[in-house]
Amino acid sequence: MRFSEEVVKLKDVWVAYSGSDRPAMRNINLTVSLGKLLLITGPNGAGKTTLIETCLGLLKPYRGSAYLFGVDTRSWRVRYSRKMCGFVPQDFMKPPFETYTVRHVIRLGFAPYKSIFESLTEDENRRIQRISELLEIEDLLDRPIGTLSGGQQQRAVIARALARRPKALFLDEPFSSLDREGRKLISSVIREYVDSEGASVIIVSHDVNPIIDYADIVVKMENGRIISGEGYA
Ligand SMILES: Nc1ncnc2c1ncn2[C@@H]1O[C@H](COP(=O)(O)OP(=O)(O)O)[C@@H](O)[C@H]1O
Ligand SMILES: [Mg+2]
Repeated sequence: MRFSEEVVKLKDVWVAYSGSDRPAMRNINLTVSLGKLLLITGPNGAGKTTLIETCLGLLKPYRGSAYLFGVDTRSWRVRYSRKMCGFVPQDFMKPPFETYTVRHVIRLGFAPYKSIFESLTEDENRRIQRISELLEIEDLLDRPIGTLSGGQQQRAVIARALARRPKALFLDEPFSSLDREGRKLISSVIREYVDSEGASVIIVSHDVNPIIDYADIVVKMENGRIISGEGYA
């Protein structure tokens, strides 16, 4: 199967939640090509999470069309496009009784092409080690995820997303629990990932500091519309 170099393409997209009488997103046009770091910002309720979920085909437009790697998100084939994507949703926190270790959580990043019953290759083990060092969580690898702080958990789920080497990575409010140092670290790791893998990262954040300095394109949303940065990235 051939995929487009356009990671995301939204054409005149309108999205509404069932039971709601007003659209959550109106007339959105956005194209993102490979190798870009896109920042989507705007106040609470602007439609940022809706936009990310529409890109992934988790929400479908009722007007207009959305394409992921060139595949219409209404098509069943979009699950093949999704295999090339990583997604860290907004509500990632695990309860204290969650017993998976950080190592196990990162390992789940390999899930699309590896069952949990197979043992990891040396290469995969090295990758887990390297990513955890990059995100400065190597000392936490054998701790149960539920016992970590919000910021530590946030690093672990980002490590999981990076472990599978996605061609497109979607991060919804990845800085919400991180302090200044953590934000800086994640921002530079993401930039480095984009440059070294030629992948795209689409970050949603209402708080732009310091990621805005690393982004190729900044899209601002308000009231379900893109108010600046619309178009081609
Ligand atoms: N599950 C839902 N059901 C109905 N309305 C929703 C739902 N999720 C979000 N909305 C509405 O859609 C709009 C955009 O929300 P959202 O995309 O979550 O904004 P953001 O991520 O920018 O804070 C808001 O008006 C919100 O109230
Ligand atoms: Mg949101």
